[in-house]
Amino acid sequence: MLDRTASRAARFITFEGGEGVGKSTQVKRLLVRLNRGNIEAVRTREPGGTPTAEAVRAFILQGRSEAWGPGAEAVLFAAARLNHVNELVAPNLAHGRWVISDRFHDSTRAYQGLTGGVDEKLIRGLETLALNGHQPDLTFVLDMDPAVAFARVGSRQIEAALAETGDRFEKEDLSWHARLRQAFLDIATTNPDRCVVLPANQNEDALEQEIWDTLVRRYPELGTLPN
Ligand code: TYD
Repeated sequence: MLDRTASRAARFITFEGGEGVGKSTQVKRLLVRLNRGNIEAVRTREPGGTPTAEAVRAFILQGRSEAWGPGAEAVLFAAARLNHVNELVAPNLAHGRWVISDRFHDSTRAYQGLTGGVDEKLIRGLETLALNGHQPDLTFVLDMDPAVAFARVGSRQIEAALAETGDRFEKEDLSWHARLRQAFLDIATTNPDRCVVLPANQNEDALEQEIWDTLVRRYPELGTLPN
């Protein structure tokens, strides 16, 4: 018998990974696909998602907190996240809307924690504060060799991103990005029930289908929707 409660449960899905792996494209595609099946969903991003969290985003990505160090930046990301969770994530889930976020707490674990060297206990404490009980149901880790990701993104897009935000994490060197990639893979290994790693070096249609197939396996009620 169809479990109506389960079939209507709104899910919180996050996308994670290094720079240039194509998260934003897949977040948009998933939203379209859910909406096509009459599933209400919203897309959001971190840092950001609410006006004040977007202000914190601009502050960090312009490099204004860089000298404060990764510990202080972890605190800033967490403060923005708490606002994002309380004002956007939790209310939408409560109204039965799926929430699809381009980055979430795993980015703090990977960038500030595993790559930036911030103590794991501090990272966990900040998570307890910021998530406020709203752990993602499912996290897609899009994985790609950073050298390939950079070649794919191309200099034009990188320049456009820099013009918009002066984005500082994109200017780190390749070995730093390789460590970051490993950090996301380690997070996925330690959270096998929540995280699914997918190879991102494939065409966008194929990756979209892999994401959808993963969701249908996990939430069979989606299998009855038009695709
Ligand atoms: P963004 O332009 O959204 O990057 P991307 O397109 O790669 O997602 O900028 C977000 C940057 O902030 C990105 O470099 C990752 C970084 N970041 C952290 O360092 N910690 C965090 O907790 C989050 C959410 C993002």
